[in-house]
Amino acid sequence: MPARINPSILAADFANLERDLGRIRTADAVHVDIMDNQFVPNLTFGLPMVQRLRQVSPLPLDVHLMIDNPDRWAPGYAEAGAFGVTFHAEAAANPVELARTLRSLGARAGIALKPGTAVEPYLDVLAEFDQVLVMTVEPGFGGQSFMESTMGKLRTLAEAVRGRELDVWLQVDGGITAETIVTAAEAGAGSFVAGSSVFTADDPAEQIERLRAAADTHVHAHR
Ligand code: DX5
Ligand code: ZN
Repeated sequence: MPARINPSILAADFANLERDLGRIRTADAVHVDIMDNQFVPNLTFGLPMVQRLRQVSPLPLDVHLMIDNPDRWAPGYAEAGAFGVTFHAEAAANPVELARTLRSLGARAGIALKPGTAVEPYLDVLAEFDQVLVMTVEPGFGGQSFMESTMGKLRTLAEAVRGRELDVWLQVDGGITAETIVTAAEAGAGSFVAGSSVFTADDPAEQIERLRAAADTHVHAHR
């Protein structure tokens, strides 16, 4: 399976979102960063944005919830037709129960880990999730630098997924460029979120293909 590249519309022009969606047609999904100014010190957009994007986007929506109390709010995003809904482990009261609810609503269930959050408590319940997002920056803002210190966690996850033949996508998010994507692919990621490196490119669609090719040359046989 080729590397999945999901551009983050946090780096798009909010006044021209539909136009910018047209510039990323080579992507696998659109990454939508929901921030509530509580879980992270930044505020973006919420459910109405996802509902509207769902109507105009030719690509599936990969929703990343950086919000408190996802147990309460995440199901609404699945109901709105998001392809995937990823909530933060640090914020959820009952991650497994929430993942089951998201799946029952037809969405892929994802769990995200901040750079300082250990993965070990989740290894036993990996089968409950369709995606694990290893944050490669502190969540909250685009345009930050990739933290290589998170790669050990990714390797642990990749080993667990391989060893148990699970179908869990390993995603990285933050500071992904044509260089850092290689590091993350080597550590076992198969899904890559990229904001600034896609939208600051002259041709975002071509940049997505460049990123995918860079990941694929270095990717493990199993992800
Ligand atoms: C950060 C967000 C990311 C961000 C990535 O909290 O979750 O999705 O938009 O942006 P870049 O690729 O610019 O680091
Ligand atoms: Zn994100």
